[in-house]
Amino acid sequence: MRGENNKEFDRLIKEFKSNYKKNKIPIEISFKEIVNGVKFNERYTHQIHAYPAKLLSHIPYFFLNNSYFSKCEDIIVDPFNGSGTVALECVLSKKNFYGADANPLANLISKVKVTNLNLENVKLTLKSIIDFSPLLERPSIPEVRNLNFWFPYKTIDSLSKILASIMEISDIEERNFFLISFSSIIKKVSYCDTRISVPVKLNPERYLDTKVKRKVKEKIDGIENIDVFEKFYQACSDNIARLAELYSTKSDLSKFKYLSTDARKLMISENEIMPNDYAKLIITSPPYAGAQKYIRSSSLNLGWTNLASLSEVSKLERNNIGREIHKKADIKISSTGIIEADLIIEEINKTNSERAFIANKYLEEMKTSIDEMYRVLQKGGHIILIIGNNKITGKEFNTQSYLTHYAISIGMKLQFKLIDNIKSYGLMTKRNKTADIISREYVLVFKK
Ligand SMILES: C[S@@+](CC[C@H](N)C(=O)[O-])C[C@H]1O[C@@H](n2cnc3c(N)ncnc32)[C@H](O)[C@@H]1O
Repeated sequence: MRGENNKEFDRLIKEFKSNYKKNKIPIEISFKEIVNGVKFNERYTHQIHAYPAKLLSHIPYFFLNNSYFSKCEDIIVDPFNGSGTVALECVLSKKNFYGADANPLANLISKVKVTNLNLENVKLTLKSIIDFSPLLERPSIPEVRNLNFWFPYKTIDSLSKILASIMEISDIEERNFFLISFSSIIKKVSYCDTRISVPVKLNPERYLDTKVKRKVKEKIDGIENIDVFEKFYQACSDNIARLAELYSTKSDLSKFKYLSTDARKLMISENEIMPNDYAKLIITSPPYAGAQKYIRSSSLNLGWTNLASLSEVSKLERNNIGREIHKKADIKISSTGIIEADLIIEEINKTNSERAFIANKYLEEMKTSIDEMYRVLQKGGHIILIIGNNKITGKEFNTQSYLTHYAISIGMKLQFKLIDNIKSYGLMTKRNKTADIISREYVLVFKK
């Protein structure tokens, strides 16, 4: 599959536009079929670290490699950048990238994905970590809640020794590479069930099937006898190979410009707000209404990497759009101005005021972030929103429709809507009794 201004993509975009204009119904497509021929999620550094609800990389690839939405050197923004899927695809397609994410782990993964390192030096550092860290005595242990509940004693000791060696590395970018490789093994060497994004302890008693029960018991035995140093060595070696593959493309990694921390206030440096009319294209997959606990999913990693102390974790939660945690005293429903949404929130409120408030707050905060996208977008530029609906207290919460409604009300023009199945979303889990798994996602294309 050829990148840059793929003629077939141009043809499809034209077709989507004219079909949608005629029929006004979302067009069912499969990005995996449209963008085929490459093992997408395997390539380059996309798999440097797991992250919940990662975007299928085919989607930014499709929207970046055509002559319709942007050209080389244009500025692209992802305000909900997560682990940097859009960022990496921007660098590969020679576009300048700015983004934001409220989760410091996400921001560090993204930076490391496109970091420029001398890999021969990295290999030497890795050898010295493996040779010397087992010899360290009593390194300090970072602040992680319920450490002994999640990790065997021997593992805590080995992890602390590796971490102490990493923190000694003076080159910040090299240190970050090792921190992210270290973070990538944290859940794998813990008692966490790695099929679930938030930490849940492996428990054989949860399963009736004796075969599954046995498998879970074997997994726990494996965790108790794991060689943490070997696991770390393997993770680093895999990530070195990923970076080497990225460097072989000779992409200009300095196209990755800056990441800020809030989609509602986009920045281009620590002190500079992103100017009006700055970006040519915004591609983003925002959080769902109360459906993913990004900070909780990352809590063990945030602690072990010293990216956030226990008290900082709760502060991070408060900045997260779509969060579930709210003070009881704050619960108060207000009109979102989107009639369809207000009606459903009123319905939910009859049986569950807390969930009604979560949905209400989510839409208010998403409206603010859409205002910010509109502000930074050039006239004639596009916003591509990738979002799904979910169920709240058993009722369909039609997020894509509410956000479309709002974007149009502030002056955006809807170009077309696509629907794709998201079987690839392995980390999307049923999050509580009142919500359903999100199984399809909408791609909404707006023009300013
Ligand atoms: C669906 S995920 C994005 C996944 C990303 N496209 C990827 O491929 O990894 C949504 C992201 O929104 C982030 N988020 C939540 N509230 C935010 C806020 N106020 N500002 C910026 N990002 C926020 C979450 O931390 C999460 O990483």
